[in-house]
Amino acid sequence: MKIEDRTFIISGGASGLGLATARDLHSRGAYVSLLDLNASSGAEVISEFGSRAKFFETDVSSTESIEAAINGTVSWVQETGKDICGVIAGAGVGLPGLIVDKTNEPVSIESIDFVLNINLRGTLDLIRQAVPHMTTVKPEGPDGERGVIIMIASSAAFDGQMGQVAYAASKGAVASVTLPLARDLSRYGIRVVTIAPALFDSNMTKLMGPKVKKSLENAMEWPKRAGQPEEFARLVRESVENGMLNGTVLRLDGAMRMPARL
Ligand SMILES: NC(=O)c1ccc[n+]([C@@H]2O[C@H](COP(=O)([O-])OP(=O)(O)OC[C@H]3O[C@@H](n4cnc5c(N)ncnc54)[C@H](O)[C@@H]3O)[C@@H](O)[C@H]2O)c1
Repeated sequence: MKIEDRTFIISGGASGLGLATARDLHSRGAYVSLLDLNASSGAEVISEFGSRAKFFETDVSSTESIEAAINGTVSWVQETGKDICGVIAGAGVGLPGLIVDKTNEPVSIESIDFVLNINLRGTLDLIRQAVPHMTTVKPEGPDGERGVIIMIASSAAFDGQMGQVAYAASKGAVASVTLPLARDLSRYGIRVVTIAPALFDSNMTKLMGPKVKKSLENAMEWPKRAGQPEEFARLVRESVENGMLNGTVLRLDGAMRMPARL
């Protein structure tokens, strides 16, 4: 699918992988609707982008908040005439916790709910609410394509480390809904691709201490470094443009297989 003159909804678009994706698509002529909890970063980002960008302060764990952002995007699209053809579900959080700690205390159900509500429920709710606005756009090209949905899983979907039960559950689920979503949406000419990154520089990974980050980099097979957000954005771009990428989970991980512990 071509990028220029199409609107892409990007959750988590005010930071890290979502922001790099927004920059990349925007620089190629896309219209970007950025949804993020962080209003101050959102305002900064919008001033950087200038035209062809909108920011909606959104909590993806709230159905009403997503609905408001989608309605806002739809009104904007009515002004611009640039159809919603892509969703990149990038909003996500990590919250480590052993299933039972050294004092025999189980992880709180609230912390499990917190991660699942944002990473899994928030991803599906965003897609669920955006898709009806994509199924009706004019199909384009020889395949009659209408759009692309891109989700972000993680290496933790496959080799989650100690303390990552909630995060791995959320990312494993995102990986496993990729094929059924692609099957549901194939009749509309909408593809679904999930990218599973290993360690990438972002605000999320800035929270790690330097020792933890170094040991994760050491676990990379090659290159032995964190990925750069721009390298992630390149794979998003390829996923948008390459019509044969569908119903699949792409690992972007320098052959890293995460060890049980660091
Ligand atoms: N950076 C990595 O190493 C890495 C690796 C694997 C997967 N991921 C995944 O990539 C995605 C992007 O992460 P990142 O590394 O860019 O982190 P980041 O912290 O830089 O960006 C995440 C963004 O999501 C937003 N967000 C958090 N909760 C939200 C909510 N409830 N509603 C709306 N927005 C919310 C944050 O405000 C932030 O702007 C996440 O899903 C993360 O799990 C990241």
